[in-house]
Amino acid sequence: MKKINIAIDGLSGCGKSSTAKAVAKILHYKFIDTGAMYRAVTLYFLQEQVNLTSDKEVTNALDEISIDFTFNKESQKNETILNKQNVENEIRKMYVSEKVSAVSAIKAVRVAMVAQQQEMGKDKGVVMDGRDIGSVVFPDAELKVFMTASTEVRAKRRQEELAAKGEQVSLDEIIENLESRDHQDSTRKESPLLKVADAIEIDTSNLRFDDQVQKVLDLADHRITEAKIL
Ligand code: DC
Repeated sequence: MKKINIAIDGLSGCGKSSTAKAVAKILHYKFIDTGAMYRAVTLYFLQEQVNLTSDKEVTNALDEISIDFTFNKESQKNETILNKQNVENEIRKMYVSEKVSAVSAIKAVRVAMVAQQQEMGKDKGVVMDGRDIGSVVFPDAELKVFMTASTEVRAKRRQEELAAKGEQVSLDEIIENLESRDHQDSTRKESPLLKVADAIEIDTSNLRFDDQVQKVLDLADHRITEAKIL
């Protein structure tokens, strides 16, 4: 069966990663959460107190970073590995969320991450979620989805996710973080978040999770059939 690449971009916290993961599982594709990669870089920069305004410090730090994913059979989750350490829980914490937009706006960081992401998808069969997948990483992706949801819905989902991991954060704090990241991610100079002309928008505010997964699967099915014919 001919494989395609699926790019899922969109606002923070609208369910891109969980949708991408479910779609990848059903299609037997690889799932790559590129936000996790930017979060891992941010965690490293925080740990090493890298000065974000120093090109030299940023470049040197990037040379020290290796990011991988491992599949945890028990939790059935892809987990992020930074320099051989499992950082999956740490990178989801609020102190990382607060800095990740600033780190991911740095050109050198984007160049390094995009190169790795393109390598991961070069043989097709990848579902990748992020902000610039359809625009920069895989401009030729056979299927591009742009996901949105209302701020309130996104904040409630994020609050539940954090609470499940034992981090209690107020709805106001989460809304502030989501809105500030949306703003920074959409207005930055390097690869801003945007809906490209050939992306299909899915608003998940009133969709059940299974329905949003099914929508992407239906679209993928069309594109896979088209790819087979061409
Ligand atoms: O998907 P997420 O919310 O975990 O992503 C965290 C941050 O990483 C997000 O605020 C912007 C940045 N990011 C990016 O700039 N480009 C991507 N392809 C993915 C994420």
